[in-house]
Amino acid sequence: MSQDHTKPLDAQPDPGRRKFLNTAAFAGLAGAGLSVGLSACKQEQQAPAATGTVTPASAVQEAGHHEVAPGQLDDYYSFSSGGHSGNVRIYGLPSGREIKCIPVFNTDCLVGWGITNESKAIIGTKPDGSLKYQTGDTHHVHPSYTDGTYDGKYLFVNDKIHGRLARVRLDTMETDKITELPNIQGFHGTFPDKRDPVDASINHTTRVFCGAEFSIPLPNDGAGMDKGEEYRSLFSCVDAESMEVRWQVLIDGNCDLVASSYDGKLAATNQYNTEMGVHYENMMSAEWDACLFFNVARIEEAVKAGKVSYYGGSKVPVVDGRKEANADPKTALTCYVPIPKNPHGVNISPDGKYYACSGKLSPTATVIAHELVLKWFDGEVKEPRETVVAEPEIGLGPLHTGFDNKGNAYTTLFLDSQIVKWNVEAAIKAYKGDKTATVVLDRIDVHYQPGHGFTSMGETKDSDGKYFISDNKFSKDRFLPVGPLHAETAQLIDISGDKMKLLSDHSVLSEPHDSIVIRRDIIKTRQVYNLDEFPNAVKDPKESGVFREGKKVTVKLTSQAPAYSLREFTVKKGDEVTIILTNLDKVEDLTHGFAIPKHDINFLVNPQETKSVTFKADTPGVYWCYCTHFCHALHLEMRSRMIVEA
Ligand code: CUA
Ligand code: CA
Repeated sequence: MSQDHTKPLDAQPDPGRRKFLNTAAFAGLAGAGLSVGLSACKQEQQAPAATGTVTPASAVQEAGHHEVAPGQLDDYYSFSSGGHSGNVRIYGLPSGREIKCIPVFNTDCLVGWGITNESKAIIGTKPDGSLKYQTGDTHHVHPSYTDGTYDGKYLFVNDKIHGRLARVRLDTMETDKITELPNIQGFHGTFPDKRDPVDASINHTTRVFCGAEFSIPLPNDGAGMDKGEEYRSLFSCVDAESMEVRWQVLIDGNCDLVASSYDGKLAATNQYNTEMGVHYENMMSAEWDACLFFNVARIEEAVKAGKVSYYGGSKVPVVDGRKEANADPKTALTCYVPIPKNPHGVNISPDGKYYACSGKLSPTATVIAHELVLKWFDGEVKEPRETVVAEPEIGLGPLHTGFDNKGNAYTTLFLDSQIVKWNVEAAIKAYKGDKTATVVLDRIDVHYQPGHGFTSMGETKDSDGKYFISDNKFSKDRFLPVGPLHAETAQLIDISGDKMKLLSDHSVLSEPHDSIVIRRDIIKTRQVYNLDEFPNAVKDPKESGVFREGKKVTVKLTSQAPAYSLREFTVKKGDEVTIILTNLDKVEDLTHGFAIPKHDINFLVNPQETKSVTFKADTPGVYWCYCTHFCHALHLEMRSRMIVEA
């Protein structure tokens, strides 16, 4: 499996590199009792399916065609969750240029996120003022909607570790709110709603749905820890404006990825642990798991009617969405649609008609009709499984599905290391018994083991069928080696023609999960703040100075290139010092920094922005506060002296 390190990497013989497949991904699976089921699928795959062929890598590499020339701008923004780096990255597409990294749950000394008082207040602090959490794990990014497409207002992103939902403003591309969900662990999938289920005049996002992947004792207070079968998960709904948790649903099984319908009526989550196992062999013991649907209007009626419980001191109302309590479809809050073995991912088609939910340990994608789920809730469909209208075999380890504007689906195949293109209507015909229907249209190798995959605008009604991004979990030999921790790859694929074409490998820092690709005209950013947005702004250099109240000292200053309004300021040993800095420069791109040696202070102020920091001055001496961000020919001279007297 190892590559020949005596030869340059680009002299490696096979650019398609099938030999690298599965060496890591399969490790340990045999021990997990999976080898039997998978090897059966494997044989079927070895003879290429009559309906689809593997496109040779040599025929697909057409780099250059989609390049963005120097000085030209990209057509799309791609927002990508940064996994356990706790941030969100922004790329331009098709170039793959990284244009911003938005700190969210992490600290970031570039901008001072987690260091300034304002950012600490958003992230959350302990009583001593230090950050409540230092870590985060962002998995899914989804922006707010108006009329079934992105409105450029907000981006929502989860923190799996600590069960938090963050909101990023898309005009400034900065995090403005973070909410911790009560009584959950492993908050994985999230998706905003697209309109209100009842009020037709609300045709935009007002709720954000959040799925908890891990079940825990409720409340998790030390009792009942040995009763794994009684652990439960909650599905949460957060208000998109206030970011307060509106309600939660107690469920059987777990949540994973989340989808929302275009008519606002349903939210969905795939479930891989309907067994409610505590150990992984138990989580894989059943042949069937589920895709769980939530009837949003009925849940909110139940909340209003007070049919709720509360757990562990939380004030968030919880309704009962367990199977037994929802046996009558006509009053049910939830519908459990059986899906083959351990699905991962549920995605809705841009026409709003179908959900694709893939069985990770089954070589199938299950297609569920939205209309039939609504009919089940009306009592017109008997069994939840009757909402399934297709279940094509598409390859090994199917995970996430993106859609184009021509009725085709593109599913990542983790174990096959491929993207498979298949036609939804053909799959429905084949399911009905039409042997002439061509379901699988194309396959393309990716490098290697794709996780998430997504199409340009593909999660909106404006899906445009231009690009597919494959966020791959292993890059192995695709980039210069940088030690044991490899870069990851995001591969850009042209999906505008009949055959998929691999256009480029973009390296991404560990570890991209989900991304979305948004047309650039939708995003309208601001380049300059307004002084009035900051209640503590120092609006005039004359307001600068040192203001003392006992041991608490406030230092107010402004920045205008290439100087701060105070050349020096004096405090005393033991003071609690708060520095408030307003950048009075109004010119776009004229950002200043402020760093204080030996005090762990480092942050930026953008044009007309105000930020503050608070720290203890406990060692007498002279400390040169300096501008960290290149702003002027005299940038190096831009300093102020902090004098700490004994
Ligand atoms: Cu101000 Cu550099
Ligand atoms: Ca399972």
